[in-house]
Amino acid sequence: MARRRRRLFARWYPGFAASLEPRGLGAYRTRLLAPLSGRVLEVGCGHGVNFPHYPEAVTELVAVEPEAHLRDLAREQAAALDRDVTVLDGRAEALPVESGSFDSVVTTLVLCSVGDLDRALAEIRRVLKPGGALVCLEHVASANRAVRAGEHAFDAVFWSHAFGGCHTGRDTGAAIARAGFEAKGLKAKRYPGLPFPLSVSPHLIGSAHKPVQL
Ligand SMILES: C[S@@+](CC[C@H](N)C(=O)[O-])C[C@H]1O[C@@H](n2cnc3c(N)ncnc32)[C@H](O)[C@@H]1O
Repeated sequence: MARRRRRLFARWYPGFAASLEPRGLGAYRTRLLAPLSGRVLEVGCGHGVNFPHYPEAVTELVAVEPEAHLRDLAREQAAALDRDVTVLDGRAEALPVESGSFDSVVTTLVLCSVGDLDRALAEIRRVLKPGGALVCLEHVASANRAVRAGEHAFDAVFWSHAFGGCHTGRDTGAAIARAGFEAKGLKAKRYPGLPFPLSVSPHLIGSAHKPVQL
């Protein structure tokens, strides 16, 4: 059932995402990705909506996406942009790439949906070079305890089922710290351009680093 819901989500998400780009999300993507260079891995790339935003300094782009339909669209997007992107089948919890090999790992609106957040972050840390960056744009749980309780209830009865496993009440910032990243470069911001209930959640934007000393 959950599998079928995710496949359904994969069908309507690209159209929904396209409607958000002109409402500020596209500009956020550009700002977030502009400083990147070298070898970059994008996890949960969806239909490749970030691909046009990567700068020339990114010398190799590898993307992982578990949904077949979104993977096909991502490959089409890379071809349309005439950009060399390797799009792989895989999940954040078991990344199909070698350890210590990427300068940056990008997630945008993905960590809210992964099945096992701690495992996904451990995998992201594994594949980063020492000093490498997890670069993310993620909506996270409210800091207000009552609102957070409401988010958890809403996720359980409706939201996660309807929106491809997404959770509005996830404390992704705490999980990033728990995974051993240095998170000074991650800022919590409101981004009102997303529809309710995501418009009330804070967003984590920026980068967290794998320590140089292991
Ligand atoms: C809301 S969409 C975001 C897509 C794109 N990153 C964006 O910024 O629009 C969530 C994406 O996460 C992917 N996803 C869900 N669970 C995942 C997992 N365990 N590992 C990797 N990607 C996952 C979904 O297939 C989907 O492409």
